[in-house]
Amino acid sequence: MFYSPVITNAAEAVKNEKLHLFRFVEDSEQVKIGTYEAHGGYQAWKKALTSMQPAQIVEEVKKSGLRGRGGAGFPTGMKWSFIPKDSPKPRYLICNADESEPGTCKDRVLMERDPHAVIEGMAIAAYAIGCHRMFIYIRGEFNHSIIRLETAVKEAYAHKHLGKNIYGTGYDLDMVVHSGGGAYICGEETALLNSLEGERGMSRIRPPFPAIEGLYACPTIVNNVETLASVPHIINRGADWYRTLGTEKSSGTKIFSLSGHVKRPGNYEVELGFNLKKLIYDPAYGGGILGDKKIKGVIPGGSSTPFLKADMLDVNLDYESLAQAGSMLGSGAVIVFHEDTCIVWVILKLIHFYRHESCGKCTPCREGTGWLEQIIGRIEAGGGKPGDIELIEDVCGNILGRTICPLGDAAVMPIQSAIKHWRDEWQFHIDNKKCMVKTNFEFR
Ligand SMILES: Cc1cc2nc3c(=O)[nH]c(=O)nc-3n(C[C@H](O)[C@H](O)[C@H](O)COP(=O)(O)O)c2cc1C
Ligand code: SF4
Repeated sequence: MFYSPVITNAAEAVKNEKLHLFRFVEDSEQVKIGTYEAHGGYQAWKKALTSMQPAQIVEEVKKSGLRGRGGAGFPTGMKWSFIPKDSPKPRYLICNADESEPGTCKDRVLMERDPHAVIEGMAIAAYAIGCHRMFIYIRGEFNHSIIRLETAVKEAYAHKHLGKNIYGTGYDLDMVVHSGGGAYICGEETALLNSLEGERGMSRIRPPFPAIEGLYACPTIVNNVETLASVPHIINRGADWYRTLGTEKSSGTKIFSLSGHVKRPGNYEVELGFNLKKLIYDPAYGGGILGDKKIKGVIPGGSSTPFLKADMLDVNLDYESLAQAGSMLGSGAVIVFHEDTCIVWVILKLIHFYRHESCGKCTPCREGTGWLEQIIGRIEAGGGKPGDIELIEDVCGNILGRTICPLGDAAVMPIQSAIKHWRDEWQFHIDNKKCMVKTNFEFR
């Protein structure tokens, strides 16, 4: 059974039942519905549909403390409760599987190796909000994920977990697998809605929020793959059990995609509150830094989150601790850079990405990302001028908090933190027309 070769800590999850998301991801038979059911799959969906009211499910998920794993960390049960109760319009559930944030590759593992867990979580969420047609919007390049999901959806219909009159309850539920539009912005929930409607993927001005007016102007909930895959476990084992995982305010487990200059890049499921240094250095996870070099810095939550410097790494991976450290948990993509990394070069790569992916709808992001790429590119090429750092800071300040969607903030937060932490290096680049560190690492 083919799937993308990526290291996971599934062996640990087999022994430690707290690590519920990865328990079966190294079992190549798990993608088949028979194996999934034999492992207890679809029991939560049956329990929810046959013995719980939708409002009870919403309450249970609220009580569990589950927060969205797509980046913003919004409380999941609360989001579901925003669906208007008296709206005569159809309601929609969308699973956001666009996964395009640089460094993030966790949802792909779940979709390729445990696709029924995603479908089961979606079904429970759909019932909780009164939806009869749900969509999974998958990044178009994820061919294997698309095939896996399509196969799994067919199996779920054949086994009567989807379709008409499910489990004899009279409840109907259909699922559509939709291949994405091929742009990072299509992961932003309102651009995703446009793309799913067949329009160009551009963000919408809010309000109205999707829960009130989303897909086809109907009440819609958009949730991340990992968020939804967590739901069956909450229904099966209860919110109180879920709350025993993680920390008081950041409950549950989280999959971290560890990449960059580590010896064992991979996807690791750990309880929230896990120590970042341990994730990087422990032989069971990252195994330390390539060439046993020193760390220069780490982006802890995907390329949209602020850097942490080497002396800031004794921090726990949960929403509150990372915010206190001046960064964010984001999508959980931990990118490690060792001492030979040129920070100006890294930032140039990042701003190139954000400039290219800007949808162009609002001026600060469309124009500002272009200017930032030009100025930073000039510095990197040895053409930096006095005042360039201040100019970059000024442009960043004119983007942050002034855009229609968070892509603008995402583009500037790593830059602002890189200047704050390594200003001397930027200045050296400008004064000496070259970098102060060796930059011969593998990515270059
Ligand atoms: C530019 C941009 C790209 C995004 N890409 C994704 C993505 O690929 N997957 C995802 O789940 N959320 C992504 N998000 C966040 C979504 O807008 C949304 O908050 C999320 O899907 C909600 O799900 P959650 O509450 O389960 O986290 C992105 C946001 C922005 C601004
Ligand atoms: S911030 Fe950028 S990506 Fe978002 S709406 Fe504005 S131009 Fe588009």
